[in-house]
Amino acid sequence: MATVGKTETSDIAVHWKEEGYVQPPAKFVGQANLADPSIADRFSLENFPECFREYADMLSWDQSWHTTLDTSHPPFWKWFVGGKLNACYNCVDRHLPKHKNKAAFIFVPEAETEPTYTLTYQELYVRVNETAAVLRDFCGLKPGDRVTIHMPMILELPITMLACARIGVTHSVVFGGFSGEAAGTRAADSGSTVMIYADAYYRNGKLIDHKASADIAVKTAAAEGVTIDKVLVWRRRDGEDLSNTPMVPGRDFYMEELLKNYRRVKVAPVSVDAEHPLFLMYTSGSTGKPKGCQHRTGGYLAYVTATAKYYQDIHPEDVYWCMADIGWITGHSYIVYGPLSLGATNVLFEGVPNYPDAGRPWRIAEQLDVNIFHTSPTAIRMLRKAGPNEPQKYNYHFKHMTTVGEPIEPESWRWYHEVVGKGEAVIVDTWWQTETGGFLITTKPALDPMKAGSAGPAALGIFPVIFDEAGNEIAAGSGRAGNLGIRNPWPSIMQTILNNDDRFVQQYYAKFCKNPKSTDWRDWPYFASDGAVLAADNYYRILGRVDDVINTAGHRLGTKEIESACLTVPQVAEAAVVPVVDEIKGRVPAIYVALKPGVTDTKQVTEDIIRAVETMIGKIARPKGVHIVADLPKTRSGKIMRRILAAISNRVDTGDVTTLANPEIVEQIRKQVQGDGPVDLQDAPEDIKRFGEQE
Ligand code: PRX
Repeated sequence: MATVGKTETSDIAVHWKEEGYVQPPAKFVGQANLADPSIADRFSLENFPECFREYADMLSWDQSWHTTLDTSHPPFWKWFVGGKLNACYNCVDRHLPKHKNKAAFIFVPEAETEPTYTLTYQELYVRVNETAAVLRDFCGLKPGDRVTIHMPMILELPITMLACARIGVTHSVVFGGFSGEAAGTRAADSGSTVMIYADAYYRNGKLIDHKASADIAVKTAAAEGVTIDKVLVWRRRDGEDLSNTPMVPGRDFYMEELLKNYRRVKVAPVSVDAEHPLFLMYTSGSTGKPKGCQHRTGGYLAYVTATAKYYQDIHPEDVYWCMADIGWITGHSYIVYGPLSLGATNVLFEGVPNYPDAGRPWRIAEQLDVNIFHTSPTAIRMLRKAGPNEPQKYNYHFKHMTTVGEPIEPESWRWYHEVVGKGEAVIVDTWWQTETGGFLITTKPALDPMKAGSAGPAALGIFPVIFDEAGNEIAAGSGRAGNLGIRNPWPSIMQTILNNDDRFVQQYYAKFCKNPKSTDWRDWPYFASDGAVLAADNYYRILGRVDDVINTAGHRLGTKEIESACLTVPQVAEAAVVPVVDEIKGRVPAIYVALKPGVTDTKQVTEDIIRAVETMIGKIARPKGVHIVADLPKTRSGKIMRRILAAISNRVDTGDVTTLANPEIVEQIRKQVQGDGPVDLQDAPEDIKRFGEQE
């Protein structure tokens, strides 16, 4: 089990100093959705869980619920029990009477020469219905079935997700940049028999043949015992073959062709139980295998609708742009379900932020008059480095900006605030996770002052806590770091890990459970696997993961998953993966391997290792360095000491190594990585100092 071990004492300085407050602009406060301070009382601990009725009331229910929270089988909480609804109906149909002509999505292709494309709510409704008809009538999918969607950022991705939701099919979207192998493994775990692809897409000016991944995915799933009967392929451009990968007769079908048989078909939304699983989202944890986080329909949709309204301040007339990928939880909650449930106009951007240059996002913002902007610290750092003065060249005005996914250092925060936001926008730094479904820690944009580098206070109805290793609470203002936990359940907490209830309990609840027999939620705090410090003003600063997950550019990579990929190279005897601080991406993985005896062509092995990581996971896991070493540092019981390797890669003091089985190897590796000369030791961030301590 992960620990923060030695770092929970006050002698661990947080990496940057506590900043002063920045007040929200008066113009923002005047129009904010969350401007009434009395709301905090309504969401006080005494009013939990009934306070969340307010969130559920933002949805249209087919049948109302009778119990807000059922705790009879902890920690498998049930929300809005007895209620029935359809997520697609809430995101599409219910907006038609008043807003059918409104843009649901404005698709911005990567190439600036290709025009933007606007999809109204009425058009979304028609396309979702026709797609749902293909899924139901051609594929034979029924409520409760699962399908895997491996698609890039094109309109057909949210259309397909909503079509699944319409017929009660649980979707599992795999990030488009993940490899075919990664998609196939996830499809197999979810028991999907249908996979949905796009033929191709544009990225960094290149046309990517995505259909090629489908063939690999089907093969991978078959090797894991799961047959994919059908692969549906959306064309990036109707009528054009952009992929060179042949279609397999009887298995692969172009959606364009299938849809011809379902024109104008309407599919009634299936009314599902509030607890019906809406989607799966696979994420990395501390084992070699990604876990399928399963999210419910009612509680999830209620929470993301309300949090998009309050914390992102989405009003019907706003133009909202979340620059994340729908393939991650951010895109599910804050591109698709939250904003669409509110009837928002959403920008969907196919490309990367800095192509063809770092002015691209600001040109889009100017052209579409975007006023709410959501991105990650990595994108902010990247855009700042490549074009520090670009934002001021464009005439756009944001009222609100979000950052998410990793800690943002005050310097980047200030550039975001002063240069990107032109000092006019409020910023929310939102802490949450794939597992939590929605924002849990964030400033209330019109009510709380902002503080650079600090995610902020708890969201409404959320009661976080910081525990030391023994499960004692660490008080606000003590300066001591500890494990971030959440005392209470909330509506968008995941239901379970698919096929692995036991792992769900062990991973998130066992560590701080006060009484495993209790059915009182107070005995079951949620363990987030993040380290945090709570300042005297009740603002949380997130220090990073306390397990062996590396947060690269805001994306979770499991070190064990990367190590497993390395071990598929036959010459590799042992592998260890550690995080290295990166100026832009936050952390990136570095690989250390020991080879089997007699292997001499280290250049070839290095290339094979990089290829194995890219094909089994994806290019986002590409390592910063592959170090082929004579041996890995080990304890006397044979455990690899990743902590020491992380210290070497980050130029931090390796500490006492004399108790190792092979202490001499440490200096040898250090010289190999850092060179022979004198080394300036660095003061590393807390997650680097702590990395590997749990082993
Ligand atoms: O370490 C925390 C970091 O991202 C992890 C969750 O990653 P994922 O499930 O991929 O979801 C990312 C988008 C919600 C967390 O355990 N993290 C997330 N938000 C923040 C953050 N770290 C610091 N500040 C944040 N605002």
